[in-house]
Amino acid sequence: MKELGIYIHIPFCIQKCYYCDFISFANKLEYQKKYIDNLKYEIQAQKNILEKSHITTIYIGGGTPSIIDSKYIVEVLNEIKKCMNVEDYRNAEITIEVNPGAVDIEKLKDYKNAGINRISIGLQSTQDRILKKIGRIHTWEDFNKTYQDVIDVGFENINVDLMIGLPELTINDIKESLDKVIKLSPKHISVYSLIVEENTKMEEFIESGKYILPDEEQERMEYRYVKDYLELNNYEHYEISNFSKKNYHSKHNENCWKQKEYIGFGIAAHSYIDGIRFSNTENLNNYIQFSEEDFSRFNMENLEEMVKLLQEKNHKENENSNYELDEEFPISFGIRKVHEIQNLDSQKKEYMLLGLRMLDGVLISEFKMKFGENPLYLFRKELAKLVDENLVEVDLDNIKLTRKGLDLANLVWEEFV
Ligand SMILES: C[S@@+](CC[C@H](N)C(=O)[O-])C[C@H]1O[C@@H](n2cnc3c(N)ncnc32)[C@H](O)[C@@H]1O
Ligand code: SF4
Repeated sequence: MKELGIYIHIPFCIQKCYYCDFISFANKLEYQKKYIDNLKYEIQAQKNILEKSHITTIYIGGGTPSIIDSKYIVEVLNEIKKCMNVEDYRNAEITIEVNPGAVDIEKLKDYKNAGINRISIGLQSTQDRILKKIGRIHTWEDFNKTYQDVIDVGFENINVDLMIGLPELTINDIKESLDKVIKLSPKHISVYSLIVEENTKMEEFIESGKYILPDEEQERMEYRYVKDYLELNNYEHYEISNFSKKNYHSKHNENCWKQKEYIGFGIAAHSYIDGIRFSNTENLNNYIQFSEEDFSRFNMENLEEMVKLLQEKNHKENENSNYELDEEFPISFGIRKVHEIQNLDSQKKEYMLLGLRMLDGVLISEFKMKFGENPLYLFRKELAKLVDENLVEVDLDNIKLTRKGLDLANLVWEEFV
């Protein structure tokens, strides 16, 4: 049985944060029931693939999953449970993202009773002036209340999201945020560097000069500071943006970086199955207007059929050859779009690219086991260059980023695109 992760997207928020371009909508909560009905149809339509897989993780993300009625979260999990054996469900890592100010103790109890065992809370910063500046709806005090509720309900595996590279954020602010969060002792801390996304308020404010971003050197200094400070406090830096106590890596994300398969449900949810990368429509109306029948017409079996047709159309039967479909991607298929059909070569490159996000890097033995080839030989040209530039090091069984490579990870990934 092959392993599979499940991602569920809940696209509702109270207010759009200024930096965020995740697919989520403010003031659309009236659609929650219809949305959940369709999520359940979509899950039912993929029953076959769920039943024949060993599901190890379920991740409910957003948006703000905690703003919808918790009974809907329970219903969605029940739908998944029907396709899983009891043991798998009990052992799975089941995460939900919650926002301070958009969750209460009753909802948290429902999550716990439904088998959710990991809570991810978006904090971003402990300074109220920064929170306001980036359009968050909550204060540090709201976060504290939520954190205490999460503990009181009995959750042990908690993640806190922070951000750096924000306008007006100082090293002292970062130190204060880290001190306050470390004091709470969450098992996991994610620290994201701001990405200025197109068509966000953040972009508008920066372009108009209202907000000023830190320069590159300042941003790197913030990143190094976070790394050193968290490591000093017994958090393992295990991926570019992620830190955890021992044995508390995020399994769901780690599986994605290890190129394991996952299936996404809900609008904009991405999937990776059999070397095919596809995603659902980003249009809430389209998703909501889909009928139960529509969902069952476009299930995985049909998708596989479509891929076969595409491959035949290209007369490229040798799995090592490159499909020349680039100009045709993405290909629409019902509510889905296929972005990529990987051949073995692109799978190997992507495995390196994803693996090098992790601080342990790519395990040479695992690469050999998966692809039957030695990555040191296969990528000798790329690796020689990266090692020469001191961006990557080879250490016994690992090919991994150096400290310099961590700062310049983009240059490393470019070699494997
Ligand atoms: C998918 S969001 C949803 C989490 C939840 N709704 C919240 O806001 O607390 C997950 C995390 O991504 C990070 N994030 C979102 N947009 C970002 C951006 N443009 N640049 C860097 N980090 C971002 C934030 O730290 C956020 O907590
Ligand atoms: S960061 Fe979270 S709360 Fe803010 S808009 Fe994005 S998904 Fe919604």
